[in-house]
Formats: sequence, structure tokens, C-alpha cells
Amino acid sequence: MALPESFLDELTARCDIYDVVSRYVQLKKKGANYFGLCPFHSEKSPSFSVSREKQIYHCFGCGAGGGVISFVMNIENMTFIEAVRHLAAMAGMEIPEDDRDAGRRSRRARLIALSTDAARHYVAQLYSPAGKAGLNYLLGRGLRPVTLKRFGLGFAPQGWDGLIKAMTAKGYTKSELLECGLAVQNKSGGLYDRFRNRAMFPIIDIKGEVIAFGGRVTDDSEPKYLNSSDTPIFNKSRNLFAMNFAKKSKRNYFILAEGYMDVIALHQAGFDCAVASLGTSLTEEQARLMASRGKGDVVVCYDSDQAGRKAAQRAIDLLKPAGLAVRVLRMSGAKDPDEFIRKNGPEAFENLINRSSTDVEYRLDEIRAGHRLEENDDRVEYLQQAAQYLATLESAVEREVFSHRLAKETGVSQQAILNEVEQALRTRRRREKASRQRQEMNPARQAQPGPRQLRYENIRSARSEEGLLALALSDRELLNQAAARVSPLEFSSPFLAKVYDMALRRSQGGGEAGLPQCLALLEPEEGQLLAQIVQRFQPPAAPQQALEDYISTIQYEHLKKANQEDDKKDTLLELAERKLQQERERGGK
Ligand code: CTP
Ligand code: MN
Repeated sequence: MALPESFLDELTARCDIYDVVSRYVQLKKKGANYFGLCPFHSEKSPSFSVSREKQIYHCFGCGAGGGVISFVMNIENMTFIEAVRHLAAMAGMEIPEDDRDAGRRSRRARLIALSTDAARHYVAQLYSPAGKAGLNYLLGRGLRPVTLKRFGLGFAPQGWDGLIKAMTAKGYTKSELLECGLAVQNKSGGLYDRFRNRAMFPIIDIKGEVIAFGGRVTDDSEPKYLNSSDTPIFNKSRNLFAMNFAKKSKRNYFILAEGYMDVIALHQAGFDCAVASLGTSLTEEQARLMASRGKGDVVVCYDSDQAGRKAAQRAIDLLKPAGLAVRVLRMSGAKDPDEFIRKNGPEAFENLINRSSTDVEYRLDEIRAGHRLEENDDRVEYLQQAAQYLATLESAVEREVFSHRLAKETGVSQQAILNEVEQALRTRRRREKASRQRQEMNPARQAQPGPRQLRYENIRSARSEEGLLALALSDRELLNQAAARVSPLEFSSPFLAKVYDMALRRSQGGGEAGLPQCLALLEPEEGQLLAQIVQRFQPPAAPQQALEDYISTIQYEHLKKANQEDDKKDTLLELAERKLQQERERGGK
């Protein structure tokens, strides 16, 4: 990043985090902070906090957090530089252009332009004589001409260099074609088209830009689909097919399907909230992408085969932690939504959505599937497994409701089932308590921040380093005092040392050295952690004294470590000397 720090300082000073967040989230004052419903996960009671004084946000529920720039990056799904541009425009500031920066931006713009032109080329081919097979194939699958247009479907004809020729004629370079994954290099260095003889599905990001492709054969050859691999403009785990349309849908839920064809068939049938992951199983980032659009529900609509059912369970486990309410749709007589709609029409599918089961019902159905309820042994086993599962539900009401259902289904009294659930619940709680106690006896484990590269090596010292930073970043006077007494080299955590060093460097240079300025210079992951540290910090009654204590602990722990290392060196030295001595003695003989 090549923006001058002074520019970022002014930007963060001009863009008040409260003003910016208020555009997206309704905030209410509570004590020193503002609270609202977190825009990054679905929740019913507000755990999203904004501190106007510290210029940070932090969600006590999902852990999202950072400064004003990171907020814009997350909510608008923007890169750092895009978010800075966005804020600068709001604040009426000019961005200082830097050559390198402009270079990178134009490189991205070039690759997007190339993908867009390639998509246009494939569309033109589809309607040319060379695309006849492709057009027949797509129409034969029941897609209407307007649907083909809407999704920008195209065709890559047979041959080795149709796209390369067309794109180089437009001025794109070979290395740009390679970078976009549209051309492949053979052993002797020559290029050939990656997509040949395939129906082409452009992949469009949430902002509406063409970033990649999927290509399908029009017969039974293999592989059935070929997808762009990740490129500088495409990350398959962060995008969802058709999200550019689904985000605008009036339906207040998303439909999550497995394949491109399923999604397109769903949109054509009026289910314009359908999306799919891109040739891989669902990722956490994709779950968050859905959660961040403010729709609380997802209807999972995967293939009806064994693999699809397994994938559905996996999707539930990813979607729920993102705060989404999950329903699962079951089809019979068709292997996927595309086939189902072709056979039964949109109304039948609407019925399936209305009858889709909650994740609990789905799971109970899955457990029952392997059991013959008329056999006593099987029935007992089913009830035991179901009780184990119900015991994992947080809500007592849910446990009650579903044990009632189980009772009706199996003819066993609800009381007996509830007893079974209670017992499983007790066992579970006992286990959890034991594991909590183990953790409490080993505080190092529970106090670790999430990301692995930010793990603390010395928890005692790191806690004091956190405290010192929380104080020093909000009070220049305390920062000066700390500066005179303790150096970043004495810190145990490289991350906290980096933040402290940044603050010192800036304050010595006469700049602002507070939290907002530091946040603008950190990686999002680091900023999130720093916001969390500061927002969870309990301000001490006597900051001066607290600072002293933190400094003593940091220095004591640092000395201890230095001594240990000295000891180690001493022993090594001794060993070496002894060996030398032995050798001398042996030589002397
Ligand atoms: N997929 C893939 N590569 C393959 C097979 C599948 O990337 N060789 C991905 C594609 O994104 C595809 C999705 O997995 O859309 C679902 O695959 P599948 O169920 O096999 O295909 P359908 O969507 O049913 O495709 P079609 O109806 O065209 O046969
Ligand atoms: Mn299919």
C-alpha cells in the first residue's frame, strides 16, 4: 500500500466511525458505546458495539471488528484501496495517486476488461454457426433465449486459439490471457485456449463484474465442468454464482443449490434468490457473504443423492454459526432442482420450499432413515440417537417440541423420551464442565486470540502488553510515559510489539498515534484483534498505577526469558568446552 500515512490520518480523522456505521446500522447509545444489530451475522439482540471515542467497532457476538476503513471493506465487500476511495469520496478528499498504485489498479481493471471481452466473444460465438451445437444444447435443456441472455451464456467452439486470436487483436497480451486463466502454455511455450468446445457460464461477482468462467461439455465427455482456477481477480471461495442477481431478490431468503444449471433453472422459474458455490463445497466466507446481505434464512437445496445429503449437513454446520436460519428442501423423483422444475413446474417447487424442514427436522429424518421403526431394537436405537441429538439443542422449547413429535411417531411416552434427553444433556454438561475446568487450569489455551499467526507465546506478558496498548493508544500522556520506560523489544508478542512500535514511531515523528491511525495501517485481521482487545479492556480506576504494573510484568517476563536463554547458552558452552577438553586429553595420549 503506497498511500502516505498523513493522508490516511486525515481520512480517519474526517470519517467518524459513528457517522459511517449509522448509514447501515441503527445505533443506540448505551454507556460509553453505541450498540446495534450486527450487520455481519444475523442476531436478535444487539451485540455490535461502536465506540465514538476510540473510533472502533467490535461485535461481541461474532468477533468482527476494526476501524472505519475495515468496516467499509467488510460491509461493501471492498478491498482496502476501494474502501479508502469510497470514504475519501464521502469526505470530499483527493486521493494522492502513486504510480505503483495506479499500476495495480489498472492491472485489475485490465483483467476485468479482458474477462468481460472474453464473455462477449463467447456470447457472439454461441449465436454464430460455430456455436450451433452449444445453442442447441442449452435450448435443449429447457433454457429460454432470454435466460441465456440474462446469464450471458456463451460457447467456446472447437479449435485451439479462437479466443487468443480475438483477444490479442483487441490489444490484450499473452501474459494477461495467462493471468486470467483463459489460455494455457504448452511445454514449448506456445499458448492455447483453455476452454474449448464448451458451453460457457460467466461467473459474475456481487458488483456485477465478470471475473471467471465455468465451461460445460455438450456431450458426456469428461470433465463435465471446467472452471477457472483462482486468479488475481477471482477467488472461488469468496464468490457465489448468481449473487449479483440474488442480492436484489424480493424474497427474504437465499436458495443454495449445487450447480450452475440448477441456479439458472431456478431463476428462470422465478426463484431469483438462488445461488451456488463454484465447483467446490460451501466455505465459511460464502456463508458470511450470505449473512451480510441481511436475509436471515437459507434454504439448502442440494442434489437428492447421498453426496448431496452429506453436503447439506456440512452446509448446515457452516451456515448456522454465521447466524443464518437453515431449512433443507427434500425432493423426490428428481435428482436436482433443475430436473425437478422441468418435470413438475415452479408451483410444485414453491410447495417444496414451503414444506422444507428446519435443520432439526432434517437431522431427525436423517437419523431415522437407517431404522425400521416396527422393530423394537431399531426403534430403541433411533430414540437413543435422536435423544443424543436433541440434547445438543440450546433451546428447551425446541427439545420439548421435538420430543413430543418423537413420542407421537414411535408410540413411546414423551416423559420417557424427555428423561433420555435430560440424561444425555447432563452427560454433555458434565463433559463440557470438565473440559472448561481443564482449560481454566491452563489459561494459556483460553486466552489465545483466534488467528494462528497471532498466537501468544507468553500469556502473562501478553495480557500486560494488551493493557499497556489499550491505555497508551487512547492517552498520549500515557504513551509518552510508556515510551520512556519500555521498548517494543521487551514485548513477548510480535504482533503487540508491532502495534506499540508503530505508535512510538508515529508519536516521535510528531504524528497522531492513537487507535484510529494505527488501525488504518494494520492488516484487517490484525485490526480486528486490536479492536477486540481495546473494546473488551476494562478501564482501570487508576490508569497510572495500572501502566506501572503492566510495565513491571513485561520487563520481568522479558528478563526471565533472557535469563533462560543465557542458561541455555551457558550449558551449550560448557558442553562444547568439555568436548574440547576430552579431545585434547585423547590427543595427548
Ligand atoms: N462441478 C465441477 N466439475 C465437475 C462436476 C461438477 O466443477 N467435473 C461443479 C459445477 O459447479 C456443477 C456442480 O459441481 O455445477 C454440480 O455438479 P453436478 O451435480 O454433477 O452437475 P449438474 O449441476 O447437475 O450439471 P448438469 O445438470 O449440467 O449435468
Ligand atoms: Mn443437473
